[in-house]
Amino acid sequence: MSAARIAVLVSGGGTNLQALLDAQGKALQSGRIVLVVSDNENAYALRRAEAANVPARALARKGFPSQEAFEAALRAELDAAKADLIVLAGFLTILSQDFTARWPRRILNIHPSLIPAFCGKGFYGLHVHEAALARGVKVTGATVHFVNEIPDGGEIVLQKAVDVLPGDTPELLQRRVMEQAEWLLLPQAAELVSQTIVKERATNDRFS
Ligand code: GRF
Repeated sequence: MSAARIAVLVSGGGTNLQALLDAQGKALQSGRIVLVVSDNENAYALRRAEAANVPARALARKGFPSQEAFEAALRAELDAAKADLIVLAGFLTILSQDFTARWPRRILNIHPSLIPAFCGKGFYGLHVHEAALARGVKVTGATVHFVNEIPDGGEIVLQKAVDVLPGDTPELLQRRVMEQAEWLLLPQAAELVSQTIVKERATNDRFS
């Protein structure tokens, strides 16, 4: 049975992309990464894709006159790669409703907090961990959710809690959340959705 075709969208360092690449054939059995697209041509994530021999494209958001034009180019890449599943792994462009509505329950995002805490517009990267420390929570974590038109608002797929420790800085907490939650959860969630895609395909083949 052929694997689900996964496209990973990135903007930065790409440690979550690396976790997905490393999980292939292990925690990620039912899906294969066929494309990486970055909205930032300098993202280190592109180098990780190249090192793993995965086709990588840079579509600099600022090179397009509008969100529509950017999303049209992105859709063309996804269609050409015959992507079944899109994984946002530190992807900073907010996708429009027009885009997300075309992929119901087929776009995953990883967010470094326990949604609904510390999420939504403006909560990205270190800001999330700064807010968690400022509020004094003792437990934080990560969430993988389906993506809809509301930033961080889609259905939750997986969550994992991580302790906040005395003396934590945003950087220390970010690293712990990545190591203990994000890098495990994202491949697990990609596997779950890939299994669904593979099953659906088998059912459709039987009735066509
Ligand atoms: C991660 O913390 C992820 O949860 C958030 O952005 C960060 C991306 O890091 N959405 P990386 O590029 O995967 O290293």
